[in-house]
Amino acid sequence: MDKIITGNKPLRGEITVPGDKSISHRAVMIGSLARGETAIEGFLEAADPLSTLHCIEALGVETRRSENVCTIFGKGIRGYRAPSRALDAGNSGTTMRLLSGILVGQSFESEITGDAYLRRRPMKRIIEPLKLMGGNISGTKEFTAPLKVLPSKQLRGIEYEMPVPSAQVKSAVLLAGLFAEGETHVVESHQSRDHTERMLGLPVSKKNGKKNISVSGGKELQARNFYIPGDPSSAAFFVVAALITPHSDVVIKNIGVNPTRVGFLHLLQEMGGRISIENQREVGGEPIGDIHVRNSSLISNCILAGEIIPTIIDEIPVLSVAAAFANGSFEVKGARELRYKECDRISAVCRNLSLAGIDVEEHDDGFAFEAKNFLLSSSRKPSIRFQSFNDHRIAMAFGVAGAAMKGTSMVENAECVDISYPSFWTTLQSLTN
Ligand code: S3P
Repeated sequence: MDKIITGNKPLRGEITVPGDKSISHRAVMIGSLARGETAIEGFLEAADPLSTLHCIEALGVETRRSENVCTIFGKGIRGYRAPSRALDAGNSGTTMRLLSGILVGQSFESEITGDAYLRRRPMKRIIEPLKLMGGNISGTKEFTAPLKVLPSKQLRGIEYEMPVPSAQVKSAVLLAGLFAEGETHVVESHQSRDHTERMLGLPVSKKNGKKNISVSGGKELQARNFYIPGDPSSAAFFVVAALITPHSDVVIKNIGVNPTRVGFLHLLQEMGGRISIENQREVGGEPIGDIHVRNSSLISNCILAGEIIPTIIDEIPVLSVAAAFANGSFEVKGARELRYKECDRISAVCRNLSLAGIDVEEHDDGFAFEAKNFLLSSSRKPSIRFQSFNDHRIAMAFGVAGAAMKGTSMVENAECVDISYPSFWTTLQSLTN
């Protein structure tokens, strides 16, 4: 479906966004390994976390869903049974990578696959450390899915220094560590999102500026309930939309403001964004707050590189849209990882910015452009048809551009937002009524 957007209408009101995707995946997986009942309040009912839920059901774990609460009836750390067919991770890299960490610890054979997009994404990054732990896991000769897992005698704890900052790789190793003999250590020099270590209550220390997370194998997990805050990566679309659309004033309630996730808020504040985090509190080990955003004139003199990248990795497409509506220059460097997301996000962002008339330079590990706020001042005829590349975050980021621009624009294949935010278009529309 093409989504047609009539832009430049003030966005005003108070909204919530659906539950955090990263935390939803982890709550289901951790609950499935614990003994007893895990109630997950605010579970994200979107395609990606549902892929995780269906995988753990195929592994013999019972679940129940009622409005807003998903309950997992875990049977303990050894409670899975062999699946009768290949596990399907759909479009979800988090499902495939994290679950692989659990599958290598099982005493049965399994296979995990996904849709055509996921089957193109790199899996060597998890295959390598899981093999170092003694896991018997392999992919195609290009190290992509389907992944085959055979039982291995006994996993062993390792010390693994992360070659790329990735919370998915870190989490796969830590989850495998639950089944390993001895201790497993993951060492990170660039901090990536820390939900796994928080939710498992793992010890974390710092040495020479690096973070060391450890997990001891062979212990039972105690079932506990999880509260899932609103996803900051989903809130980011409305934060940017309200900043760049004239006369907007929006409050987004109950959002996770974990410091490993809100780099984008600080950056937008530095660009002159009128953003405040109100009513800050901690629920179930995660900080949450309400985000209040008002339309602002943004100045961008940004070079984004280094350790900020993992903390804004999912927000770079929508930050690029913010920068396209600012005055100044914007450059992303050292972010090759973006090429391995749900689509090649470097080329997708460059393509859509060019469609909007921005002269953008594409680099191997990023992109750069100058913007003079001109997107706001003119209406484009014929209207722009942004491409989603079947990637939810690209569709939403350029939906936000459309909502701010004068005139109408379109986002093709707009239903791909179902991966993380099925009601995105309705909520965007509701703010202009
Ligand atoms: C995620 C980690 C990130 C992110 C993805 C979700 C997670 O991937 O892009 O959307 O839940 O751990 P990497 O850590 O591989 O960069």
